[in-house]
Amino acid sequence: MRIMQLRLLSRDIIPHYLKRISKWRSSRLIRVEDTYTTHFCPIPHLKERYGNPEPSATLYCNFILKSLHQFFQLDLLPSDGELQVLDYGCGPVICNVISASKHARSITMAEYTPQGREVVEQWLNGSLTSFDWSPHFDYIVQTLEGKSEEEARERERSLRKKMKGVVSCDLTKDPPIDPQYLGPYDIIVCSLVINTTSSSIEEHQAQMNRLASLIKKGGYLLFVTCLRADGNEGVHQYHYFCGGSDVEYNAIAVSMKCLFSMLEASGLAVVSSSDHLCTGKPDIRSNFIFVAGRKV
Ligand SMILES: C[S@@+](CC[C@H](N)C(=O)[O-])C[C@H]1O[C@@H](n2cnc3c(N)ncnc32)[C@H](O)[C@@H]1O
Repeated sequence: MRIMQLRLLSRDIIPHYLKRISKWRSSRLIRVEDTYTTHFCPIPHLKERYGNPEPSATLYCNFILKSLHQFFQLDLLPSDGELQVLDYGCGPVICNVISASKHARSITMAEYTPQGREVVEQWLNGSLTSFDWSPHFDYIVQTLEGKSEEEARERERSLRKKMKGVVSCDLTKDPPIDPQYLGPYDIIVCSLVINTTSSSIEEHQAQMNRLASLIKKGGYLLFVTCLRADGNEGVHQYHYFCGGSDVEYNAIAVSMKCLFSMLEASGLAVVSSSDHLCTGKPDIRSNFIFVAGRKV
């Protein structure tokens, strides 16, 4: 009986593990600095993570759009349309500056990969055909802000006018951006970058310090990262697929306590935070956190 049970068990489990091992062996695990420029595919990344702005248990997009909208509802900054905004490590993503654009005089998009910058530039000059951002403008302006469809289209036009530069950046370098774009900025949005560009607390802290150096006193870092879900301290290393390729990227997750103390060490006081556990594909293992930190 026991032997039969064991046989049944192995018949079910062994093929499952063999499949996982072969997937692991056929994917290539490379350090992040080697991977993004050569493997990052902007449009698959957009389709995977930003395909639908509406509430969903599985996608990351709605979480960040709502978190950014809620931050601007707090009215912590002057709403005179004069803010200077930077999206650092924006990838090919436009929607993370839609809420900020209402209050902005200028918006700079900084991205490490040429292919990410190219997609932002295509949107800017109206030639992007492989991804449609209008549902995201509709969701933020109509659903979250309660305005009309015409105002959603107007927000698109005004964001295009306010986007002053699409520039290269590297958070592992000093300075982390072209010296012409050092700011300082009133708002920096930085989503899911440092958890992929650092592999230790020391690197994470050094990169956060570089970001914080670009923020005005009294300005804000709007930061998104992954928290470790097991309640332990220290760095948890994991791998994830991104941008449609079969390449696995290295990433780290930290505890909330560790994240907050790194923000504090960078001179940023946490004013609000929210987290979100993604329960399905493609972020099955991810526990995201949005934090707003004020530069003191
Ligand atoms: C997971 S994507 C996040 C993109 C976008 N912010 C978002 O929320 O979807 C990670 C981003 O980090 C950028 N990146 C990779 N290495 C970097 C580096 N050394 N310095 C700055 N950004 C880097 C990538 O080009 C990519 O756009």
